[in-house]
Amino acid sequence: MTQRRILVTAALPYANGHIHIGHLVEYIQTDIWVRYQKLAGNRCVFVCADDTHGTAIMLRARQEKRSETALIADMRQAHVDDFAGFGIEFDNYGSTHCDENRALCGEFWGAIRKAGLVSEREVEQLYDPVEKTFLADRFVKGKCPKCGTPDQYGDNCEKCFSTYNATDLIDPYSVFSGTKPELRPAMHWFIRTEDEHAFIEQWTQTGDHLHSDVANWLASAFLVDELHDWDVSRPAKYFGFEIPDAPGNYWYVWFDAPIGYIASTHQWCKANNEQLADWWQNPDVEIHHFIGKDITRFHTLFWPVMLKAAGYTLPTKVHIHGFLTVDGEKMSKSKGTFVRASTYLKHLDPQWLRYYYATKLTPKLDNLDLNLDEFAEKIDGDLVGKIVNLASRTARFVEQSGLSAKYPEDGGLFADTAAAGRELADAYQVCDFNRAMRTIMLLGDRANKFVADAEPWKLNKDPANAGRVQDICTVALNVFRQLVTYLAPVLPKLAAEAGALLNDPITSWEQSQQPLVGTKIAKFEHLMNRVDRKRITAMIEESREDLAAKPTTQAAPTAETPVAGTLPAGAAEAGAAPSQWSDGPEALAAEPLAAVCTIDDFTKVDLRVARIVAAEHVPEAKKLLRLTLSLGGEEKRNVFAGIKSAYKPEELVGRLIICVANLQPRQMKFGLSEGMVTAAGGGGPDGKEIFLLSPDSGAKPGQRVH
Ligand code: MSP
Ligand code: ZN
Repeated sequence: MTQRRILVTAALPYANGHIHIGHLVEYIQTDIWVRYQKLAGNRCVFVCADDTHGTAIMLRARQEKRSETALIADMRQAHVDDFAGFGIEFDNYGSTHCDENRALCGEFWGAIRKAGLVSEREVEQLYDPVEKTFLADRFVKGKCPKCGTPDQYGDNCEKCFSTYNATDLIDPYSVFSGTKPELRPAMHWFIRTEDEHAFIEQWTQTGDHLHSDVANWLASAFLVDELHDWDVSRPAKYFGFEIPDAPGNYWYVWFDAPIGYIASTHQWCKANNEQLADWWQNPDVEIHHFIGKDITRFHTLFWPVMLKAAGYTLPTKVHIHGFLTVDGEKMSKSKGTFVRASTYLKHLDPQWLRYYYATKLTPKLDNLDLNLDEFAEKIDGDLVGKIVNLASRTARFVEQSGLSAKYPEDGGLFADTAAAGRELADAYQVCDFNRAMRTIMLLGDRANKFVADAEPWKLNKDPANAGRVQDICTVALNVFRQLVTYLAPVLPKLAAEAGALLNDPITSWEQSQQPLVGTKIAKFEHLMNRVDRKRITAMIEESREDLAAKPTTQAAPTAETPVAGTLPAGAAEAGAAPSQWSDGPEALAAEPLAAVCTIDDFTKVDLRVARIVAAEHVPEAKKLLRLTLSLGGEEKRNVFAGIKSAYKPEELVGRLIICVANLQPRQMKFGLSEGMVTAAGGGGPDGKEIFLLSPDSGAKPGQRVH
């Protein structure tokens, strides 16, 4: 088999918050994949870095009365320590605030300009006169212009769910200084992604770079329409890199962050006598990005355009995972489930979380749940009960004799376990760690049955059985070694300890295929504990924060404060301490098109084919018609639709349309509205430009629209 060359990245964590167990889903997932590739003999380089730029870092540094560089240096060290604690092994861990990145940003910018993709225009934005900075929508709060609820963010209302512009807020204030923001014009630079529409379409829809759910989501949520210009500059004051040909303006953090993947690779190259172009401009190298679903657009719409313009290799695959929930709910500071990596490490074994996440990870984008009871049961039942047990029940009987000289008859146990290696390798390769773990545990069950049936602890009582006991233990320890080899990407520490026990370090996947015979073994050392439930409770208690004690009006958004359901679950609660400030929401608020839709949101909408079976005027309403829809079978819906100006009731009866079937029913003056019909337009001087959407003939009422 030829050796593949693989460059792997995990998303660059923001430098303004600590690593928590939600982040760890991604870093553990990526580390497992990388370790698998290395174990399988591929040449694999894993780079990451801190994402350091943006308004939030700047303001936090100001608040802490120190420089941004001091702040990001401390946070980087904290991140490095947390990752090391969980056995996440980067080949290079950099920072986006480095010379390599500045130079690369200049190179990319020049190339993107040269490709004719940049345009500039003036934008009016809210400005905080005290902090002297422009404010993204997420950094402005005020009264909702629709319902008047106070303390709503600048893009939507959590009470009535209406969306609006930050400039429409009543009595707006800056979340940083509390002062009233002013509207100020400033020049901004944009990348016209629409110019690359055909390329993005082709790259996202063909070639298996993305999970089909992601490709479909991009197609229906973005590619059906014109792509919006992407605003990639921010006027001073901003912590970032100044744009050389636009002095006083800085690249937006999401412009320089992905380039940070390349900058980190460059640092690795310098330290290892390699050429950057051999890794980033070489068709023989596979590039794999691992990210969470909240940052899909940056990696699938913008980043490929940047790479193409600059002449760098496009990603082979963007692996996208879902968000962590704990006991079925999003992580919560008040419930104590917003657990920092460092807090976890004080109480529990990092290998446990690696294994537990592995059992939950699939190539799909579903959220994954950390159920604390199940967590304890899996560790005790699987790792201690099925894997470690194989060695702990047998190793001491062969401490003196070593392993049998010839591999004994075992009823096909070793051969079958070896044969499973192929399927397991495939499962790792496609990130189906859940499948791999299930298969390994089934093999473990079989091996344990072998030991339980053979009862070496009984045979051992009679010295005449010494040979038989040695054979049984040789089988058990060999299958143990196979399973630990298969688990090595997930449990590197256990693999190292097993290697020490058997006097044969585990360094290659192929070791699972050949038995170890005739060798001495070391004295058995305890390998893994059962979970002490009290420590879980202690960890949760330590993570619990009393939010009632904190003021909420001035609280800044966190990295993941949900934008009224537009961000995936797994977020901090609103009202988190300013120490959690970040550009996450700012990033999302930057492009109007995408700001309000994630894959989750999109699939939540239940669109159905329906037939209009009755239509009538609503005399009291100027714009509404009352429609009766049939959704197939007996199911009828009453819907009020604002289409009176464009349609006569009689011409609608019998027509197939597309309706939203799972909209919360709304009580109106004239009756209950139980859905919504879809139409294009709705604009024009008198609302006459309305075009009802209809499926091709042949569609059946009730059919789901995808
Ligand atoms: N700085 C950006 C990424 C820039 S990449 C060029 C960022 N940082 S982050 O710190 O907010 O998140 C880092 C990664 O962790 C992202 O891929 C994000 O999706 C992931 N996660 C953050 N919280 C998470 C959960 N609660 N659950 C699962 N993954 C989570 O985004
Ligand atoms: Zn409102």
